[in-house]
Amino acid sequence: MAGGVVISSSGGKVYPGHMTAFVFFSCLVASSGGLIFGYDIGISGGVTSMDSFLSEFFPSVYAQAKANKEKNQYCKFDSQLLTLFTSSLYLAALATSFLAASVTRIFGRKWSMFCGGITFLAGSALNGAATNVMMLILGRILLGIGVGFANQSVPLYLSEMAPANLRGMLNIGFQLMTTIGILSANLINYATVSIEGGWGWRIGLGLAGVPALIITLGALALPDTPNSLIARGYTAEAKKVLVKVRGTSDVHDEYDDMVAASEEAKAIEHPWRNILERKYRPQLTIAVLIPFFQQLTGINVIMFYAPVLFLTIGFGGDASLMSAVITGLVNMFATIISIVSVDRLGRRALFLQGGTQMFVSQIVVGTLIALQFGTTGEGEMSRTYAMLLVLFICLYVAGFAWSWGPLGWLVPSEVFALEIRSAGQSIAVCVNMTLTFIIGQAFLTMLCHLKFGLFYFFAAWMVIMTTFIALFLPETKGVPIDEMNLVWSRHWFWSKYVVQM
Ligand code: BGC
Repeated sequence: MAGGVVISSSGGKVYPGHMTAFVFFSCLVASSGGLIFGYDIGISGGVTSMDSFLSEFFPSVYAQAKANKEKNQYCKFDSQLLTLFTSSLYLAALATSFLAASVTRIFGRKWSMFCGGITFLAGSALNGAATNVMMLILGRILLGIGVGFANQSVPLYLSEMAPANLRGMLNIGFQLMTTIGILSANLINYATVSIEGGWGWRIGLGLAGVPALIITLGALALPDTPNSLIARGYTAEAKKVLVKVRGTSDVHDEYDDMVAASEEAKAIEHPWRNILERKYRPQLTIAVLIPFFQQLTGINVIMFYAPVLFLTIGFGGDASLMSAVITGLVNMFATIISIVSVDRLGRRALFLQGGTQMFVSQIVVGTLIALQFGTTGEGEMSRTYAMLLVLFICLYVAGFAWSWGPLGWLVPSEVFALEIRSAGQSIAVCVNMTLTFIIGQAFLTMLCHLKFGLFYFFAAWMVIMTTFIALFLPETKGVPIDEMNLVWSRHWFWSKYVVQM
């Protein structure tokens, strides 16, 4: 049968593909968009814990921190101005995701990635050379625009390029690059904090230009996805790319399916209005709730504030930055576990296992902190407790890294029909960035008020989201992206909304 078509247990057609060098390299280059995202997550927590950076740009925060006689450990770092520096980027990213949706649909995935790279490049130059807060904030806004473009286009690019049976693995390349970005940033923080003259932060912020350059040049060299080429009328080129990515000229059936999906998509003039139709309710729910829940795991409390959190529990400055390197390493290696298992075990198994592990770890972390600091927040953490705490934080990060981390981007990017794919992905990016912003902004205040209860708060969300997955997320492993409709029409709940065609 052409292209080795088989009928899957869900009744859909599957075109088993293998890993060709072409698909591997295209996806590798595109995933480097994740480096930008990750680098930025990792770098800001570090620079905002550096005295030289604070005294130059946020003198009042610096003075307050130095004069701080606060004995309450939970409230030591509560400053809105400081958190605004970290989280302002996510505001720019969420606003951009809508513009990126149009660029991705009208000009293709490739040019959206390029826009991301180039604005990010400008942002890192401005930040590295910053002499006043205005330059710093403007730089952050440009970085945010870059992230908005990249996070909108890269996951879609990967999901469309990959053969269905390798889609999970190739898509998670994005998350792996994100974790590599975070880890590099953690290492650079660690290496630059002690630079004499206190300009180490300039290296940290300016080096963001390296991943930006990679994705900018990479996007120029990459072909667009067959789906996007067909949708924009470049059918001959689409076929050429499909032959190359699949490594065989026997691609007619898959190509015809893509054309059919594109025809259907063309009949739809208003993707934004359409996505609100009843028949897209399951996809809309996933696009909103998956990124919403991903942020309510509380992961960015660790990613943004690990150094500050470790300072809070009594580690020294260096040890705090070092602990952030440890969580960064765990994050990266655990993502690899997800890469090798997601297309075999499936998305649901990873979500359920990872969610449970995160729940248990959060309860233990909250309890350890409660035992040491109680509700007054006064006390010192003993060495044994501190080690146990780091261990459970690592178990928590590992659970995230093979479940909600990668799947939070994979699942929304693979569930949409072509006609609403770009709009749907923007909603996912927008929800993700909004929640990242809110949590980034609120964490230090929440820690001050909820105290150790903050960890129980996130643990309660873990129960809700894990139950949601168990009941409402159908398995999508191995299902071709243009056959996803079947998955909903056979689900116990969503079949009320989606009829089989
Ligand atoms: C999330 C980020 C998070 C990162 C940690 C990503 O999937 O979207 O918010 O910081 O994972 O690895």
